Amino acid sequence: APVVPATGPLAGRHALVTAGPTHEPIDPVRYLANRSSGRQGYEIAESLAALGARVTLVSGPVDLPPLTGVTLRRVETARQMLAACRDALPCDIAVCAAAVADWRVAGEATSKIKKTAGAPPPTLTLVPNPDILTELSTPGPNRPALVVGFAAETDTVAQHAAAKRQRKGCDWIVANDVRPETGIMGGMENEIILITGDGAEQWPRMDKQDVAAHLADRIATFFTPDFS
Ligand code: CTP
Ligand code: CA
Repeated sequence: APVVPATGPLAGRHALVTAGPTHEPIDPVRYLANRSSGRQGYEIAESLAALGARVTLVSGPVDLPPLTGVTLRRVETARQMLAACRDALPCDIAVCAAAVADWRVAGEATSKIKKTAGAPPPTLTLVPNPDILTELSTPGPNRPALVVGFAAETDTVAQHAAAKRQRKGCDWIVANDVRPETGIMGGMENEIILITGDGAEQWPRMDKQDVAAHLADRIATFFTPDFS
């Protein structure tokens, strides 16, 4: 097929997006996981591509089809996700939308753990996973110009998210209120507070697709201030 040069405000920019959960093996047939659908990250990847960016999507196990025009790197574990992100560098933009497991099982069994009559159940010992957002945010020659993290919080959302932004060293945090009564976790809609170096802005409740389009617009404006 002919190579059509990208057009749009993000043409010539490379964006890295992480999405979905990670699976952390217990043994060859069992794993720890979480309820992330990957939807928000996939929407962001699509919105950035629509504005002309070259996009690498590093995705944990999800039930979503690949996106046309987006390079997909499928991974299972947090460590594989980190390795795939490192491989994707350099990039101009990193958006960490993945729900990376905070811990993995120490000493993953290489064969299936069996029940033994009369023996107590096995105990899982957890060890911390690498923090991909923190690593991507660390100053250095490969640090993307704009690093965006997510935060799912259940109380004092703006304060927790601002603290998370400082702790992780990223430029922006997209915070969402995941209190059960908001119905956001696992749903189609999101209610966002965007935390930047300039403060916090509350967005109206909108579809995850609109959140993605809005965020991609804000990113384009960051690189090309006359774009709106
Ligand atoms: N993140 C990451 N790697 C991890 C954990 C989190 O890249 N090992 C990223 C997520 O993709 C998200 C951001 O960090 O962009 C915040 O994730 P979150 O789970 O809210 O923050 P944590 O620091 O793990 O704090 P906690 O879960 O205790 O609230
Ligand atoms: Ca976490």
